[in-house]
Amino acid sequence: MLEVRVFSGEPRFMNTITSLEEMQKIALELHKKNKSIGFIPTMGALHEGHLQLVRESKKVNDITVASIFINPKQFGPNEDLTKYPRPIEQDKKLLDVKGTDYLFYPNVDEIYPSNFQTSIAVDKVANILEGKSRPGHFDGMATVVLKLFNIISPTNVYFGQKDFQQCIIVRQMIKDLNLQIKFHTVSTVRDPDGLALSSRNIFLNTQEREQALSLYQSLLLAKKLIDDGNKSVELIKKEMKKYLKKYKLIRLDYIEICNPENLSPVKVVSKKAVILIAAFVGKTRLIDNIII
Ligand code: PAF
Repeated sequence: MLEVRVFSGEPRFMNTITSLEEMQKIALELHKKNKSIGFIPTMGALHEGHLQLVRESKKVNDITVASIFINPKQFGPNEDLTKYPRPIEQDKKLLDVKGTDYLFYPNVDEIYPSNFQTSIAVDKVANILEGKSRPGHFDGMATVVLKLFNIISPTNVYFGQKDFQQCIIVRQMIKDLNLQIKFHTVSTVRDPDGLALSSRNIFLNTQEREQALSLYQSLLLAKKLIDDGNKSVELIKKEMKKYLKKYKLIRLDYIEICNPENLSPVKVVSKKAVILIAAFVGKTRLIDNIII
């Protein structure tokens, strides 16, 4: 059952909208009334990280809209589209309790009708790191995100730092396409032991969950090396790899140290940098990062 909240003296509850046209109409009406809209796009299986985005939106926007849409275009042929968790009733409850005003929950045909032909491709920043390991992923992501932006017309949008490259790509798209949207990156939420929250963590068994922690531990090791005065990217990467070797369930994809503005690789850590890591833990692919 949906919980009814009392807000500004009026009983309120979250409205779930499945029709694209209706969502667009609501957004238009809200703008006519000069209401600011904060938007959180998600693929569901919500956790504290997503709820933190809702909290951030509610601080400054009149209306908060979240979407749940498992976007088939951003999954590769061997990825986990069919397995992706879909706890929709629980997600609705969580969003409602946190004060989300609208949930946009369209089906696949609504977003991609049969003759859909367009794809958004951001160049350089989308072709490295995750883009290299998951070809087509960011085209699918950018395409759906632009569609959602066009449907919801948000004033502010909120994305989690865990998907650091996604943040850079969406920011670049907003800039390149002159979208009148303010982008906000919200810090990664972690379990008490440091594991970055991810909808995919539920795939980890006990042993994998334990070893998954080594990703964040390796980032902390890198941070310590840098804090101690080490500047060589080669040395830092070597030490991180040595550390990760101890964990037999970890299959490293990449570790990169980059400029956090544009993700260009750095050779020497002299200024602000981001360290990004991607690895399989058993069959589950996880990513994490830390800003130095
Ligand atoms: O980060 C995600 O969950 C997805 O990539 C997003 C932004 C909802 C687009 O499908």
